[in-house]
Parts: sequence; structure tokens; C-alpha cells
Amino acid sequence: MNTPITTLPKISIRGLTKQFDGAPTHALENVDLDIGANEFVTFVGASGCGKSTLLRTIGGLETQTSGELLVDNRPVSGPGIDRAMVFQHYSLYPWMTVMENIKFCRQLAAHTQDRSSSDVEAASGRADALLRLMGLQASAGAWPNQLSGGMQQRVAIARALMGRPDIVLMDEPFGALDAQTREVMHDLIRYVHRLEKATIVFVTHDVEEALYLGSRVVLMAPRPGRIDTIYEVPFGDQRTQDLKFAPEFVRLKRDILERIRETSGMKTDLEQLQRLSGAVSEPA
Ligand SMILES: Nc1ncnc2c1ncn2[C@@H]1O[C@H](COP(=O)(O)OP(=O)(O)O)[C@@H](O)[C@H]1O
Ligand SMILES: [Mg+2]
Repeated sequence: MNTPITTLPKISIRGLTKQFDGAPTHALENVDLDIGANEFVTFVGASGCGKSTLLRTIGGLETQTSGELLVDNRPVSGPGIDRAMVFQHYSLYPWMTVMENIKFCRQLAAHTQDRSSSDVEAASGRADALLRLMGLQASAGAWPNQLSGGMQQRVAIARALMGRPDIVLMDEPFGALDAQTREVMHDLIRYVHRLEKATIVFVTHDVEEALYLGSRVVLMAPRPGRIDTIYEVPFGDQRTQDLKFAPEFVRLKRDILERIRETSGMKTDLEQLQRLSGAVSEPA
């Protein structure tokens, strides 16, 4: 008989609760979740349901009020190079070129840890590889303000990957991009995920994006912020843009959207509006 292989989750969350000072409800209440190594898990939910708070807590930028948060079976006690973050608003340094932006954090690490020049050389090789991966070779010497939003976000992703993080935490990273650029970024980030074998935790308000990218979609609900439903995404690893038109994809998308409307109170607002406009009749 084969011995079952038990692998520890990469991230383990138990009874996680967060209350900001003076806030009337918990930003997070009793969140339980395991995220596996190399998983790509996406989070959706109405505004204010605690998605960013959860992500920032995993990143070590917030501390929980109670409960447990383990990464590699160790409690998170602050930010670390094993966890990189990418936000919606490009956080590039405007006075540095693309290449300097990508190398910056690594150079800082080399400096503070008094590393040898061969480490800095290795970092250059990595930066070159990431530039190619992101299709930015021609822009290595450009300034951030010379780049489109999509290209700036590619630089931010390359910079996040520089230190070979185990976990990449992304908070609505494509939220400010137009629909076409976003599609390209979706296939790019899926490729990066396969290549770099990182665990990706990705927050979005776009259900289609969540379904296209994730192996699981975690739907959160507000007041208090909590996990409502976890959807297993049944589409395997080989995905192309056509998937978005598949009946099963459309059905899941509709289910998730409907559930977000229900949990956010938006469903009642929409029904009232429809009644006002005469689209549906008053209930008898
Ligand atoms: N720094 C903060 N101080 C006080 N309340 C906050 C802070 N950050 C978030 N909140 C509150 O916590 C709840 C969850 O917020 P957030 O995690 O930003 O939600 P989401 O990202 O899902 O929109 C909201 O009610 C929000 O107002
Ligand atoms: Mg948010």
C-alpha cells in the first residue's frame, strides 16, 4: 500500500479575525483557509469584504486581532522576501529606469547583507531574464512615465519576481488597465505562474478574471468580512481566451456574480431599480 503523501499547506489560516480600532464590524471574521504550494487562488467579493486586509495580513503589513496565520508552518511576524506584493497603482520609482526599478530591491538586499559582486552579477542575469519574460527588452532604459499602464505593471511584476518569492500577493493588479491589455496580462501571469512555480494569491473585483486565472475562487462577503463560498474551478491548466465563452464558464460566472449581489445587498437595490423602471412588476 502506498503511504499517503501529506504536504503542508503553503499558507494556513485559522480563525483569523481583524478589527480595526473604532470600526463597528470586523474587517475579517473567523477566516479559515489553506492555500497549497504553487496554487493560484483568486479572491472576489463586494467592496469592503476584507480582501485587501486579508492579503495585507498574509504580506505581514497588517496584524490580526486573533487567530492564526502560518506560512510554511511558521507564524507570519512581518513582511519578508518570501512574499512579494503587487498593487493596482504602479509603485515604480519615477526617477529610475525600468532596469533600475527591477533591480532596486535586490541591490538593496545585496548591499545590506554585504554580498559579493558575483551576487550583484547574478541579479543582473535574473533581471535580464525577467525583462525578456515580460517583453520589456526594448524598454530597459525607459523611464516609467514613458510606458503604458500595462507595461508599467509588467515592470512592477518583474520587480516583484526579482527576489524569487515563494508567494506573490496581488491586489487588483490589472484593475486600472483596459480590457484588451488585461487579457494579455492574464495569459502572461498564467505563464509566469507555470514558469516560476510561485503560489499566487490574487484579489480582483472582476469575476471573469478570477475564474480565468484561479484554480479556486474564494468569494468573500462583507459586514463582517468573511469567506462565503469557495468555488473549485474545473478547467485544468491549459486555458485560452475562448474558455470565457464556454457554457460551463459562463454558468459559473453567473453563479458567482449572483452570489456577490446577494451577499452585498446589491440584489435588493437592483430589484428596486427594475421595479421603478417597470422592467419587473411589483410583487403581489
Ligand atoms: N486601515 C484601516 N483602518 C480602518 N478600517 C479599515 C482599514 N482598512 C480597511 N478598513 C475597513 O475594513 C473593511 C475591509 O476593507 P478592505 O480589506 O479594504 O476590503 P476590500 O479590499 O474587500 O474592498 C472595510 O470596512 C474597510 O473600511
Ligand atoms: Mg481592496
